[in-house]
Amino acid sequence: MVRQMQDISCKVLVIGAGPGGYIAAIRAGQLGLDCVIVEGAYYGGTCLNVGCIPSKAIIHAADEFEKAMHFAGDSAIGVKAGKPEIDFSKTVAWKDGIVKRLTGGVSGLLKKNKVRAITGWATFVDGKTVDVKGGDEDCRIRAENIIIATGSAPVELPFLPFGGNVISSTEALDLPAPPKKLAVIGAGYIGLELGIAFAKMGSKVTVVEALDKILPLYDNELTRPVEKKLKSLGVDVRLGARAKGASDKDLEIETADGKAETIKADKILVTVGRAPKTEGWGRENLVLDMDGRFIKIDDKCETSMRGVYAIGDVTGEPMLAHRAMAQGEMVAEIIAGQNRNWDKRAIPAVCFTDPEVVSVGLAPEEARSSGYDVKTQVFPFSANGRAMSMEAEDGFIRIVARADNHLVLGVQAAGRGVSELSTAFGLAIEMGATLEDIAGTIHAHPTLGESFQEAALRTLGHALHI
Ligand code: NAI
Repeated sequence: MVRQMQDISCKVLVIGAGPGGYIAAIRAGQLGLDCVIVEGAYYGGTCLNVGCIPSKAIIHAADEFEKAMHFAGDSAIGVKAGKPEIDFSKTVAWKDGIVKRLTGGVSGLLKKNKVRAITGWATFVDGKTVDVKGGDEDCRIRAENIIIATGSAPVELPFLPFGGNVISSTEALDLPAPPKKLAVIGAGYIGLELGIAFAKMGSKVTVVEALDKILPLYDNELTRPVEKKLKSLGVDVRLGARAKGASDKDLEIETADGKAETIKADKILVTVGRAPKTEGWGRENLVLDMDGRFIKIDDKCETSMRGVYAIGDVTGEPMLAHRAMAQGEMVAEIIAGQNRNWDKRAIPAVCFTDPEVVSVGLAPEEARSSGYDVKTQVFPFSANGRAMSMEAEDGFIRIVARADNHLVLGVQAAGRGVSELSTAFGLAIEMGATLEDIAGTIHAHPTLGESFQEAALRTLGHALHI
């Protein structure tokens, strides 16, 4: 018997319920738009299920374990504790509990805002029609506006396909125990965030990076504190080296001087970037212009087809959840008739390594190569009382401003807990703050944030505490 396909019509159809898609749907619902969202795997997408959130939980557990180990030794602050153990299966169960609460929260918010959530795989038939299959019920959806929010997936190395001991970040977050020996390919965001966490939990970690530096997106001044920590954790970082394949379960590499070498490994974690998901949902049935490997969008996130929008990782760099969320909110408002366009001055980037690294706006070299004459200074946490009293002296805050009118172009930082300071940095840049604005704002004492004010003062030539 041929099953009758259910026919649904709506004003807005969102494909993919990651941070971009679910925010677009919630905002559409708030604005009274008749909205349907289709999700083929998990509500909350990569971020909530196998990305940002679970990795931060594992990183927190690793930090707590490292702290306990520190207190089992000879700690300067006089706290003494017994030798700690980690029951990693319990850590993973705790992490899964957080994921469940958040994904359940997303479903609840969609419902509250009267968004119809359909589970299944969406495939475009044409620019206004999508078939959904493989879920609770097959259906055909006709929508006035469609938002593509299909996200991204880990890049696979052809000579080291995922499976068995070769894992992506998804499997790394669900291991039964920290591997005794972990080889990480790629010293980018994921490789270093997870590599550092596993090193803290006792894994012998080797990181293989093709370029001649770690975290290639950041300059050397920013990555130096991370390099120092990698060294103290005993992480073996092989720069200028290339992964070549695996033999038995070990990793074969070519070192910077062209020699073949075998890295002993129980698990090989491949973190060489993510690729936009532009296939598998009927793009061939549309006429979408592309921008390299991404879907081309304009400043309203509209694609080359009228009424078809795209947001998040599928549309370009930086592939970050908060960019997708801001795009999703904006597109829902555009469809509701509001006059919006993408006018953000900065998208903060935070790397949750130890110490954390933050960059908002332009770094000094980026500003100079964009044609600005700049003033820039750092203020080190070693001159900040709060940092001293937290044993968090490694790191600094750096400000980059125009030399002529002192407009702040960028703020960067490395140090414990600086991820939370990214909010202040972003606000300053978005509001068009000058060095004098930051220097003239009373910053609570004693806080790490005072170093932001001091960095501004130092750039103006009159820092008070250095
Ligand atoms: P990534 O682009 O940050 O780093 C990949 C690294 O792998 C680069 O350093 C590259 O030079 C290296 N590489 C590439 N091929 C190689 C090879 N054959 N051998 C050795 N090294 C090789 O990619 P990653 O870490 O996979 O993260 C993907 C994306 O996910 C990030 O770009 C970011 O957008 C997002 N992300 C963001 C996070 C955050 O905001 N805190 C955390 C994790 C991921």
